[in-house]
Amino acid sequence: MSALGLLVVAVLGSAPDALDVSSWPAEKQAQYRVFAVRCSKCHSLARPLSARMTPEGWRAYVKKMTRRSGSGINEEAAEAILGFLTTNLVKGAAAPPAGTPPQETAPAPKAPTQAPETLLPLVLRALTYDRTLPDRGTGPFVVAVAFDGAQRTRAGEFMAAVDPTTLPALRNRTVRLLELELTDPAEFRRLVAEKNVQAVLVLPGLAPSTLSWVCAATQELKRYGLALTPEQAPNAVVAIEANGAKPRLVVNASRASAVGAEFDRTLLQVSRVVVDEESGGDRLRAGQANARRDAGTTPLP
Ligand code: HEC
Repeated sequence: MSALGLLVVAVLGSAPDALDVSSWPAEKQAQYRVFAVRCSKCHSLARPLSARMTPEGWRAYVKKMTRRSGSGINEEAAEAILGFLTTNLVKGAAAPPAGTPPQETAPAPKAPTQAPETLLPLVLRALTYDRTLPDRGTGPFVVAVAFDGAQRTRAGEFMAAVDPTTLPALRNRTVRLLELELTDPAEFRRLVAEKNVQAVLVLPGLAPSTLSWVCAATQELKRYGLALTPEQAPNAVVAIEANGAKPRLVVNASRASAVGAEFDRTLLQVSRVVVDEESGGDRLRAGQANARRDAGTTPLP
């Protein structure tokens, strides 16, 4: 074979557009044939062959295709196709060939079932993994519990429910909680400076418009923004989500670097690391940290 021929084989080899199924059981061969005919109608077969999805992912995709007019895929064909896809092209079963595997849409993270008050110590403990914490002053570590006018009762309940003995010391600084009612950005900034606030915890359920200015101001002042639900994670440096029955930390790498925090790997390995949409470089690091966490070697700090 010529050098060019070898090159072509090598390139095509990275994204096959057919499989040799001659040695497969008859039933599996039949499934493959249905797949090969139906799934090559609008794009080459290399497209699905280079993809890896979970069985649920394939099920959802095939369902979508079945509904699409002109796909020519009926229920029976769909079952046969799924028989092939969910045994041969399953995510994690084998290294995917070169090419772009489809991005699955991850299910929305759930809020932990534990009462928010009981999650506060975990969020605060995360801050002890910030290498810049010693540079953030001395004396009591003041955490503002931020709420708006509609949350006054809720804030009172929250403060009453927190057990101060469960709050960790942050590098020998005792944590002091301070109720802070949100009125406008200027007043908020003034209070943060006057009361020497080091971190701002937003209560779950804070109105989205308020949440966004509070978090923006907190970030500008280089204080930690803290949240107790995954919905607020995009606005906070550290937040919490459910990981099965357990709570898990969500660290926003973009927000962390915006306030100058440098979290230790130990923390990132046990957290889910997210980044703001714009910052591509951070995304890479978040992916690496998540890969290490998914390897599941480190216990919760
Ligand atoms: C009616 C036309 C049509 C049929 C039939 C069809 N596809 Fe697709 N498929 C598309 C289109 C359109 C795209 C998107 C192309 C793009 O992203 O550029 C696509 C993309 C894909 C992708 C890449 C998905 C991603 O997120 O990038 C995979 C995998 C795939 N198809 C698998 C299949 C399988 C398996 C079947 C058979 C059940 C199938 N397709 C049948 C039209 C079709």
